[in-house]
Amino acid sequence: MAVDVLLGLQWGDEGKGKIVDVLAPRYDIIARFQGGPNAGHTLIFDGKKFVLHTIPSGIFRTEQLNLIGNGVVIDPITLGKELDKLDEAGVAYAERLFVARKAHLILPTHRLLDAASENAKGKKKIGSTLKGIGPTYMDKTGRNGMRVGDLEHPEFRKKYDELKAKHLQLVTLYPEVDFDLEAEEEAWFTAVERLRKLPFVDGEFWINQAINDGKKILAEGAQGSMLDIDFGTYPFVTSSNTITAGVCTGLGVAPQKIGEVIGITKAYCTRVGSGPFPTELHGETGEFLRKEGAEFGATTGRPRRCGWIDLVQLRYTIMLNGVTQLVVTKVDVLNNFETLKAADAYLLDGREVSELPYDLCNDNYEPIYSEVPGWNSDLTSVNTEADLPQAALDYATYLEDRLGTRVSMISTGPDREELVMR
Ligand code: GDP
Ligand code: IMO
Ligand code: MG
Repeated sequence: MAVDVLLGLQWGDEGKGKIVDVLAPRYDIIARFQGGPNAGHTLIFDGKKFVLHTIPSGIFRTEQLNLIGNGVVIDPITLGKELDKLDEAGVAYAERLFVARKAHLILPTHRLLDAASENAKGKKKIGSTLKGIGPTYMDKTGRNGMRVGDLEHPEFRKKYDELKAKHLQLVTLYPEVDFDLEAEEEAWFTAVERLRKLPFVDGEFWINQAINDGKKILAEGAQGSMLDIDFGTYPFVTSSNTITAGVCTGLGVAPQKIGEVIGITKAYCTRVGSGPFPTELHGETGEFLRKEGAEFGATTGRPRRCGWIDLVQLRYTIMLNGVTQLVVTKVDVLNNFETLKAADAYLLDGREVSELPYDLCNDNYEPIYSEVPGWNSDLTSVNTEADLPQAALDYATYLEDRLGTRVSMISTGPDREELVMR
């Protein structure tokens, strides 16, 4: 059986959590393959709301197994808090949530380094979520990191102390920041005991055995393709490969095992944190989208920057990921527009181009917009194609035409039930 992939095509927060939750019953296993607690995936059903950071969004479906893959970086403290929420909600996860031994651990001093490094950057800061993501992936590629499997090693504490000592040396490079290391460490070691209770697996064997047994697997992306370490708006990116290729390294799955690639885009565009955003709207319209779309970060609560959909950017990320079907979310947020705009080309040094410029941070460019009629009616809770106004269907057809990819789902609200399957 193939591994299907679901991932974000913009700067994150496209609604991945919701769509994974909806699709989960079609699969046997849901697996996270990269990122860590910088992610915030919101699920809303039966009048309840949950935000997951580390745990795959299949956890609320009782039949499915969930894997935190080797490509993920885990903060035991955040994971512990997520488990508390599951306990409160009476969700049985004991036999359904597995952790890959090769996943790296976020130490308290990784978070300290993240905070100190961001603080030292001043105006040039990345806008990191301060969850320790960058320093942890740096230790991974620098071959200093600690992995979940190290928790089973008798010298675990010694390894921890050595890495912490290295971090404390490094942090002296930066101006001091407020960080109660002692308290954070205490919480961390308590949370580690909690993590130990989850079943650890050799993720690559576990998942390939499942594939050979004919199980259906959905790989759940975090962040978005424009935050990819190689192809995003560098250096304003995260520290992992968020694209389909990340599934291979983040789970141990060979490329020919990848099946459908489901790419998610909002009907407009958002970004949280610093970095270029060519179609950003600074005035009233941007503010309107933020209000209508409740665009505040699920992890940090920061207001998200809002703008028009960028088709140049989407063609780029569809290409990078090999997207086979599109999901368009938050169409209901555009209920009150006579006309919508979409960037369909860029003017780069006075020349019209259809490809994303190399350096969105420094190149001299501006988006060229096309106009599309809005539906100017309430789509909230619509869940059949027949109930969508013609203008909304035409918008989907317009996107299919300009992006060369079929739109298989249209999301009309945050709830599990608010979705049109086509
Ligand atoms: P993720 O990180 O990709 O899982 O997305 P987030 O959970 O960070 O952000 C998406 C936000 O939009 C959440 O608050 C969702 O509840 C909400 N949402 C998802 N789909 C829709 C939709 O179709 N319409 C509206 N209005 N909200 C949605
Ligand atoms: P989900 O999975 C939106 C952004 C941060 C910052 C940059 C680097 O919910 O879509 P990091 O903490 O990774 O070092 O931050 O990436 N960022 C996200 N933006 N959604 C996310 O995840 C994000 N994860 C990181 O805001 O600009
Ligand atoms: Mg999010």
